[in-house]
Amino acid sequence: MDFDRYLSQRARRVGGSLGKQTSVPILGLINLGSGTPDFLPPPHVFEAMKDALGQGRAQYTAWTGIPELRAAIAAKLHAENGFDVDPDSEIIVTAGAQEALMATLMTLLDPGDNALTPSPHYDEYTRDALILGGTLLPVPTTLETNFSVDVATLEAAITPQTRALVIVTPNNPTGTVLAEATLRAIAELAQRRDLLVVSDEIYEYYVFDGHRHISMASLPEMRERTITINSFSKSFGMTGLRLGYIAAPAPLIQAMLPFHHAMMICANVVAQVGGLAALSQPRDWFAGILAEYDRRRHLWLAALDALGLPYAEPQGAYYVFIDIRPTGLSSAEFVARAREEARLVFQPGTIGGGAGEGFIRGALTQASPAFDEGLERFGAFVRKLL
Ligand SMILES: Cc1ncc(COP(=O)(O)O)c(C=O)c1O
Repeated sequence: MDFDRYLSQRARRVGGSLGKQTSVPILGLINLGSGTPDFLPPPHVFEAMKDALGQGRAQYTAWTGIPELRAAIAAKLHAENGFDVDPDSEIIVTAGAQEALMATLMTLLDPGDNALTPSPHYDEYTRDALILGGTLLPVPTTLETNFSVDVATLEAAITPQTRALVIVTPNNPTGTVLAEATLRAIAELAQRRDLLVVSDEIYEYYVFDGHRHISMASLPEMRERTITINSFSKSFGMTGLRLGYIAAPAPLIQAMLPFHHAMMICANVVAQVGGLAALSQPRDWFAGILAEYDRRRHLWLAALDALGLPYAEPQGAYYVFIDIRPTGLSSAEFVARAREEARLVFQPGTIGGGAGEGFIRGALTQASPAFDEGLERFGAFVRKLL
């Protein structure tokens, strides 16, 4: 049957852009580029979720999330992120950051509109804009500035159809943490050009070498024009539980609510109870995990230094953005050959706006001994190419 004729314009536009996911782990492949953290949520999260199931918690919650969780999120944003939101009217608990960013772009973009974001970037933003008939305009960043944002270049890319700036710090895939001065300059630009800022902060706890995560909404005058997106996926190792949130001024939250309702009605109740437990306990369990990721980061950098491959300084998140241009291969060729010849999995740097051609995304998420074995194979594979 010809199914094409049933497809909406939207489905045709986006058509197949995700590719196929392999559901069976392939023997012998080591994923050195995965975006999934390899640790479990702390035990109190599991305990709370088990209790919730034992109590028969299986019903819808409030659309915006259970009130205790929203209160805990507001308290967290106050204590850790330096800005205040009203838990009753300025938070939606979502099914991860992914739903949060779709609901956000649904609210902001009409067909023909655009949002700007520094490239390379998390590629889902592109697809979401495409689904909506809008565009995510990538604003290239380069290794020379460690993929930081050049605010003059960002401003030059603004068009009359630009509705928002999307800022992800710490960044996937570059590992860049935007400095306070850069964030202030972006804030000044947003105010001067009357744009909203979508601030994706899901890697906030992964910062290295004294780099500091600063929330856009905490900067002067920015609370009113910032939509903060966050998630429990990376912060608590809860990727499969699908829990995140949006914090934004009440009128924007009100406008987003129908989209959230259309997609989810509410986030999973058991995950919400787990999220509440996660926020209710100290984060002391995380120090050991961050130290382990830092150990892997140093091993990555030592391996790259030994090979003479350049890289972006990994300041945060859990990625290493590697310059593979000395091998003479394109990003796509490198990823394909690394898989074929060294049984290693990476993400091409070209994902997310194209500015990462010549780069691949490595990650800190693989545990030893596979991690060490992976680095060995990587070294042997690259040496053959140089
Ligand atoms: C920058 C960024 N935003 C959002 C997401 C989606 O995260 P979640 O699991 O919370 O939906 C990811 C996932 O990798 C990401 O890297």
